[in-house]
Amino acid sequence: RRAPRAAQDAHQLRRQPPNREGESETLFLICRALVHGHLRNTSAVFNTTPLSGCWDEQGLFYALDLGGTNFRVIRVQLGGRDKRVVKQQYEEVSIPPHLMVGTSTELFDFIAAELEKFVRTEGENFHLPNGKQRELGFTFSFPVHQTSISSGTLIKWTKGFSINGTVGEDVVAELSRAMERQGLDMKVAALVNDTVGTLAGGRYADNDVVTAVILGTGTNAAYVEHANAIPKWTGLLPRSGNMVINMEWGNFRSDKLPRSEYDKSLDFESLNPGEQIYEKMISGMYLGEIVRRVLLKLAHDASLFGDVVPPKLEQQFILRTPDMSAMHHDTSHDLKHLGAKLKDILGVPDTSLEARYITLHVCDLVAERGARLAAAGIYGILKKLGKDKLLSDFSQQRTVVAIDGGLYEHYKKFSACLEATLTDLLGEEVASSVVVKLANDGSGIGAALLAASHSQYAEVA
Ligand code: BG6
Ligand code: GLC
Repeated sequence: RRAPRAAQDAHQLRRQPPNREGESETLFLICRALVHGHLRNTSAVFNTTPLSGCWDEQGLFYALDLGGTNFRVIRVQLGGRDKRVVKQQYEEVSIPPHLMVGTSTELFDFIAAELEKFVRTEGENFHLPNGKQRELGFTFSFPVHQTSISSGTLIKWTKGFSINGTVGEDVVAELSRAMERQGLDMKVAALVNDTVGTLAGGRYADNDVVTAVILGTGTNAAYVEHANAIPKWTGLLPRSGNMVINMEWGNFRSDKLPRSEYDKSLDFESLNPGEQIYEKMISGMYLGEIVRRVLLKLAHDASLFGDVVPPKLEQQFILRTPDMSAMHHDTSHDLKHLGAKLKDILGVPDTSLEARYITLHVCDLVAERGARLAAAGIYGILKKLGKDKLLSDFSQQRTVVAIDGGLYEHYKKFSACLEATLTDLLGEEVASSVVVKLANDGSGIGAALLAASHSQYAEVA
């Protein structure tokens, strides 16, 4: 008796308006709102780093990458223009959850200690000239008010981090003090967002990269803009005339962005209510949680999993996006893998075939909506760059979008839908010159390169 109502609720997630043409129009409006609004309205920050495109830097550089599922330490030996990256090594460490909501000192001490351990394993394959100090590119993937290439104050935490005492502080100073406490003699030469590092690394590998997008725990994008088109920028014009913009698009919101009751309750109960609205509809931290909320409603209102609502289904964030993805990719005729996941995660011993199909359908709706919204954002950037139309001389130039993040890399139905939507929005002909590619290393090499190009020894090298 209660099923039709619950099914209708789930369908709030369906495309709005519910036909493809109407939805493309909505996506287009979102893209337009994003393009017109981001330079004024979001917490966009400006990184004064021009991407020189020369990349003749040489020497040993470190990078530290904080803000994804894991944090990474990287070392790179750069060999100059011809040899480029001679050697690289990295290590990944997961951040203990209590440090994500602890104190600033605890978090920075932890990462500095891991960096110090990594530096001790440097060995003879890497070469630092006598008397030189080690230098680091610090990828800090949170909104920062960048005050110089190597300093910036944290605007707010996102993605489940919530640490007292860091907002408003210079995160480079915090890291430098922690490195000192560890007895590590290293200088932070560049502070970058993951999107900016990915853009730099992407360009190093392929000069046609025009934008870098992260689709992982969080989501964001960066691209290169003419400095005089940035109303917020009041400083000197950089020599190149261009600046890299970290859009912080995850914080985008608009009345063109229709939200369901699940989005609203997720936001309301989150650590950062009212913030990161676009991110909360798209990124890996939240997709599984949206699915959980829909399933919970269906369990309560339509006894989806029988008469008793599985107690575990009430637990926030119990359904992670990788598990949602595994369920969504179940191709068995009776959805047995999906059923096994529901059993493992929610403790439901037996699910009906119908319940499994409904769960699959919910995963499909949530993933498709996220992927299409992300594609609208990418389309927005291409439009801003004038790459959304055919050139009049028919010599269409290749345009590359570099994407990194676990969501894009591992959730194949998500990435396939994103690419198909971009083709929908651009049209087949323009889309044939746009390459969307996985930027494997993310911001690692990029951050090291930006550290190298802002090295204290740059002039004498
Ligand atoms: C990495 C980048 O490869 O991808 C990070 O170097 C970025 O800077 C990350 O944050 C996104 O990863 P995740 O774990 O959130 O999918
Ligand atoms: C969050 C952060 C942003 C970062 C993105 C992807 O949106 O605020 O700085 O780039 O996640 O990691």
